[in-house]
Amino acid sequence: MQSLVVLGGRDASTYSVLKMIVAKTIPDLRQARSRFGPIAFVPTMGALHAGHLSLIQTARRYARDVVVSIFVNPTQFGPREDLTRYPRPLEEDLDLCRQAGVELVFVPDAGEIYRVGSPNVVVDLPELTQTLEGRHRPGHFQGVCQVVAKLFNIVQPQYACFGTKDFQQLRVIEAMTEALDFPIQIVPCPTVREPDGLAMSSRNRHLSDDERSRALNINRALFAADAEARAGAQVTSKLVATMQRMLLNVGRLGHVPMSIDYVACVDPKTLKLVDTLTAPVTCAIAARVGSTRLIDNLTITPGR
Ligand code: PAF
Repeated sequence: MQSLVVLGGRDASTYSVLKMIVAKTIPDLRQARSRFGPIAFVPTMGALHAGHLSLIQTARRYARDVVVSIFVNPTQFGPREDLTRYPRPLEEDLDLCRQAGVELVFVPDAGEIYRVGSPNVVVDLPELTQTLEGRHRPGHFQGVCQVVAKLFNIVQPQYACFGTKDFQQLRVIEAMTEALDFPIQIVPCPTVREPDGLAMSSRNRHLSDDERSRALNINRALFAADAEARAGAQVTSKLVATMQRMLLNVGRLGHVPMSIDYVACVDPKTLKLVDTLTAPVTCAIAARVGSTRLIDNLTITPGR
């Protein structure tokens, strides 16, 4: 599955012809990885969009060579979640990686990562994983930590890029990296939004036109909370009430646009609920629009 790509990225004056290597097994990945020096790693579950491409661009600023993994990790999905429905457009994803100049892509299958008979390891950071997403998706972060720890050991990157859209995941991975002494710098990357403000997500492709327009209430609610804080609101319960009102506003269509899993204002580091805006606070929303569950967040800095 190797292919030639023409890149003008790193040295715009001379187009260079590079091979993007696609490894399906751990030994192949390790052999290919040994050709590179320091690398920046972008772990993904595929269905790549502009958000992932911006992670790849950021990765390129940290290291000469970029490795992307594409693996829909079964252990981070609950029994009633969308594992089977999760989009898997592998050829499209590989094309996007090629166009982005990625050097090495790791596309293992589940049997490669979770080999029959090999011991099951659970990594958990209960102080950070029992709130927000963790409360609504029991076991989710154990699955994320399990696979990310394995990928870190397999890929051995010096840098790893994670999107701020999954801010709790980012915080959990930062803490896991610190706790397990991985010699890796975690690079947080800003959320990429559609022109109308909807946060980019692989799950957006499940939304009908009507659902997509209803989903916009999520980012609008976050920006309304931000505006309210700028106008002087200091009590977070007021911001939460504003966000809930916007999310549940029946609007023109006359039906409740979504069901809310949570709306919360938390400390960006400890993820504990915050009452008063005296320092930066992350407002976080999880809601279901039709059968699609979406999350988004915005960090609000008081006095801005
Ligand atoms: O954010 C994701 O896409 C996944 O949770 C990750 C980090 C690739 C682990 O499966």
